Amino acid sequence: MESRDFRDRLCAWFDEYGREHPWRLTTDPWAILVAEIMLQQTTVAAVRAGRRFEKFLQTFPDIESINRASEVELLKAWEGLGYYNRVRNLQRTAQAVLTDWQGQFPRCAEQLETLPGVGPYTAGAVASFAFNEPAPIVDGNIARVLTRLLDSAIEIDSTSGKKELWAWARDLLDSERSRIFNSALMEVGQVFCRPKNPDCLSCPISSFCKTVEPETLPCKKEKPKPELVTEHALVIEQAGKFLLTREEGTRRKGFYRLPLREADEVADLELLLTRKYAITKYRVTLHLYQSPISETLRENEVWVTSAEVAALPIPSPIRRAFEAALLVKKKR
Ligand code: ADE
Repeated sequence: MESRDFRDRLCAWFDEYGREHPWRLTTDPWAILVAEIMLQQTTVAAVRAGRRFEKFLQTFPDIESINRASEVELLKAWEGLGYYNRVRNLQRTAQAVLTDWQGQFPRCAEQLETLPGVGPYTAGAVASFAFNEPAPIVDGNIARVLTRLLDSAIEIDSTSGKKELWAWARDLLDSERSRIFNSALMEVGQVFCRPKNPDCLSCPISSFCKTVEPETLPCKKEKPKPELVTEHALVIEQAGKFLLTREEGTRRKGFYRLPLREADEVADLELLLTRKYAITKYRVTLHLYQSPISETLRENEVWVTSAEVAALPIPSPIRRAFEAALLVKKKR
């Protein structure tokens, strides 16, 4: 492929047809950063429809204003967007620009990447969209466009695959007009080069595209087979209280669940119900038994009232199974 023709075609198309998102009407690095963080886990449509970008910038127009904000003010400005660590990180980034860069965002991607909460994608986005610096970017959209364009079966979530993608993005980049080039590549991914039903007939860069089976790309690492686990849990009620176990370990610390027993320990108990649920790499079959026994407490076991059960953090599948088991128990 002739890179020069490709760049010209892509940029000419975007000049004429690119959408006018509010974050494309500014070159303020703070506003660009806000948009990129907001768009990481929230769709363009949701950000646009709720005018979330504009409203956030009304509340925090610059890094000084967010620097002074309390946690409550931060969360309020981000309300409904979810993944609230994003707004806490935005404040940390702003504070770092104030203290380490005298309030001026660095311009190049390598320096931007030293800021807390700024990864390679965000650094490239701010460098190119705000400063038109020759920095490539790769997000999910661009990864899809590039693998199809080059008809490559690399695994886009593997270390080597990511390296390859960033190298392609760097090679293809129009270094004189990276702002337009990066926006255009992303837009092609959003508008034409969709994961399902790509619109190759309308795509402005289809004449450069090598793939004939776009829907089979991109490839991802094969997920390991889920591990099958069977759990036997007790529903023990005594004097209006239930027996729960406090979880140990780092990931689940602070959570509560029903006490677990070995299969031979529940052989004589009455089965209330069986539920299946998936968690991380496990497929769990959970059997819940009614246990009449008032046992001596084992390690980490505690008696709690119904009100406490409602207030304690309990993994959702376990809470649902427990509530269903109580209904079965009541009907018997
Ligand atoms: N999604 C994330 N960043 C974006 C941008 N700058 N334009 C359009 N969609 C985006």
